Amino acid sequence: MKNEQKEARNTDRDLIKRTFIEPPTIKTERLILRRMEKRDFRDMFEYASDPDVTRYLLWSPHRNERQTVQYLAYVKGRYKEGAFYDWAITDRETGKMIGTCGFSSFNPDHNSGEVGYVLNKKYWGCGIAAEALSAVIRFGFARLGLHRIEAKYMVGNEQSRRVMEKVGMKFEGIHRDSMFVKGCFVSVGYFAVLSGEWRK
Ligand SMILES: CC(C)(COP(=O)(O)OP(=O)(O)OC[C@H]1O[C@@H](n2cnc3c(N)ncnc32)[C@H](O)[C@@H]1OP(=O)(O)O)[C@@H](O)C(=O)NCCC(=O)NCCS
Repeated sequence: MKNEQKEARNTDRDLIKRTFIEPPTIKTERLILRRMEKRDFRDMFEYASDPDVTRYLLWSPHRNERQTVQYLAYVKGRYKEGAFYDWAITDRETGKMIGTCGFSSFNPDHNSGEVGYVLNKKYWGCGIAAEALSAVIRFGFARLGLHRIEAKYMVGNEQSRRVMEKVGMKFEGIHRDSMFVKGCFVSVGYFAVLSGEWRK
């Protein structure tokens, strides 16, 4: 049996659910990725209220801390169902929550998942998103048995495109005006990495 076919049998919905009901902590050189908690609300509001951070995201800046608290309560409920796949990115030295990274969705029938990430502006430019994303991709291949991990960015978001490139994802093209976001059509770029490429 070809490797691809063996892998295709491995990603089942139950495994994803069981894994993310209590997302395992992942440590990297400078970061700890852990479950998002209600107590993170101040740290999260710090970047979630920043229009520079949300410029290329589907959501708009949080208006007040209450909105962030409500969002984290929603996240808690989704974790409980095993249906939320993001980790908090925390600074290993200070414990501060400085962003999120994880899977935005899975397609178990096709053994694939999509990743995403957001970072507090104070921490941009130090390769932190790439460090977190590499750990998440490794987790997706090693622990979830995925075959393909993809990511997309809104054209113009050069910083995010670079992160995808730096972790070894391959550019697959642009879908022109494929999303309607905040009142405008935007073109979207696609990157992906396959398990065999990652092992190499
Ligand atoms: C995209 C994002 C996560 C990148 O994180 P990061 O840890 O700063 O990424 P890197 O340090 O690897 O920098 C990536 C590129 O951004 C550029 N860059 C870095 N710091 C920058 C800054 N302060 N301002 C503008 N561009 C900057 C550089 O070109 C860099 O590439 P290089 O390493 O080849 O020089 C971060 O900018 C962010 O959170 N943006 C808002 C949310 C977002 O857009 N998420 C992605 C949605 S698809």
